[in-house]
Amino acid sequence: MSGNKAVAYKGPGKVEIIDTDYPTFELKDGPGVNPANVGRKVNHGVILKTVATNICGSDQHMVRGRTTAPADLVLGHEITGEVVEVGSDVEFIKKGDICSVPFNISCGRCRNCKERKTGICLNVNPDRPGSAYGYVDMGGWVGGQAEYVLVPYADWNLLKFPDRDQALEKILDLTMLSDIFPTGYHGAYTAGVTTGSTVYIAGAGPVGLAAALSAQLLGAAVVIVADLNEERLAQARSFGCETVDVSKGDPKDQIEQLLGVPEVDCGVDAVGFEARGHGKDASHEAPATVLNSLMSITAAGGALGIPGLYVTGDPGGIDEAAKVGSLSLSLGTGWAKSLSFTTGQCPVMKYNRGLMMAILHDKAHIAKAVNAKPIPLDEAPQGYEEFDKGAATKYVLNPNGYIAA
Ligand SMILES: NC(=O)c1ccc[n+]([C@@H]2O[C@H](COP(=O)([O-])OP(=O)(O)OC[C@H]3O[C@@H](n4cnc5c(N)ncnc54)[C@H](O)[C@@H]3O)[C@@H](O)[C@H]2O)c1
Ligand SMILES: [Zn+2]
Ligand SMILES: [Zn+2]
Repeated sequence: MSGNKAVAYKGPGKVEIIDTDYPTFELKDGPGVNPANVGRKVNHGVILKTVATNICGSDQHMVRGRTTAPADLVLGHEITGEVVEVGSDVEFIKKGDICSVPFNISCGRCRNCKERKTGICLNVNPDRPGSAYGYVDMGGWVGGQAEYVLVPYADWNLLKFPDRDQALEKILDLTMLSDIFPTGYHGAYTAGVTTGSTVYIAGAGPVGLAAALSAQLLGAAVVIVADLNEERLAQARSFGCETVDVSKGDPKDQIEQLLGVPEVDCGVDAVGFEARGHGKDASHEAPATVLNSLMSITAAGGALGIPGLYVTGDPGGIDEAAKVGSLSLSLGTGWAKSLSFTTGQCPVMKYNRGLMMAILHDKAHIAKAVNAKPIPLDEAPQGYEEFDKGAATKYVLNPNGYIAA
């Protein structure tokens, strides 16, 4: 069988293209693979030839050395592919199907999957509930920033696109269904966004921009996107969002200038644990800043959608508490205002089909909103570097040339 070119994490600040094994229907030992998963039979899986696979802010946490990810881990949890081999227990998915893969790996059989909580499946990761491809502490399923990737429980996990030609034509939009579009939508939805809402979204990276487009789809009256990166704020303005530059001071004052009141109905954290402070503190990391400011600016009775990632181990944390994921939260503020919180992995499967329909029927232009840019697999190291520097771009790897120039 032929080999498999893939993007591997090599150590802080470093990714490389490596030659690795073509996948088989059995989990092999390797970097980050939980011993209890080695030898696991995956006859319910398929092998995909990758059509598109995106670089994510979640990958960057690992690549910056801010997690306990081991060297040589093959990266990539945002995967769209063509089925080239079908396991013996797969009943409905067929060779030739072009499918979106939810980044959460889930079994479809456990209590949580049955309740559509696929971000915390109990059967795929021996370490803890929840799993993903190519990610630290997620059981060791090999990542999809590669030419080929194994997808388990294929009948359950895969979202098949209805028409191959149409799928390839809209691939830069559809590739966002594996993670950021559902994740942004989940952030807005769980923040309670509905017709007429005012919304503050912290973070103008791809997830924040996807949350902003989702808030518009959900009917928000005003969508305010905040960041300290001017290029990314300009990207948010390009599709009708208001913006707040948090390096210029407390977002409260800028929100008051925009809305006439210093608060919003709904708050979204699309930043996570590497958050910078506000105003003069924007020059350094202050991991509780976004959560504390969302509690302060969200109206009483409101909700916070928190797709931004928080970890349990961060070797680069600013202090001993942050190194074990403990943050200094003003929870009393949230409690006094009866705020609700939704954290965790986005259960992609809850939203991906509806968002696919919105894309196929030209109701959502997510690729434009996040400024999707296809690049060859070999250019992944440059893509990671530019994205890390804050480019207002969502990098889409094109390992097998499916994406037309
Ligand atoms: N929950 C999920 O299922 C899920 C899925 C995908 C991504 N994520 C997480 O979502 C977060 C965002 O992902 P991304 O790809 O957009 O990452 P990103 O790193 O590209 O974007 C984060 C942005 O936040 C900005 N920022 C930093 N401090 C800020 C502050 N105080 N206020 C406002 N903006 C601030 C940064 O300048 C940056 O532009 C990451 O933590 C990622 O791991 C979670
Ligand atoms: Zn992602
Ligand atoms: Zn499950």
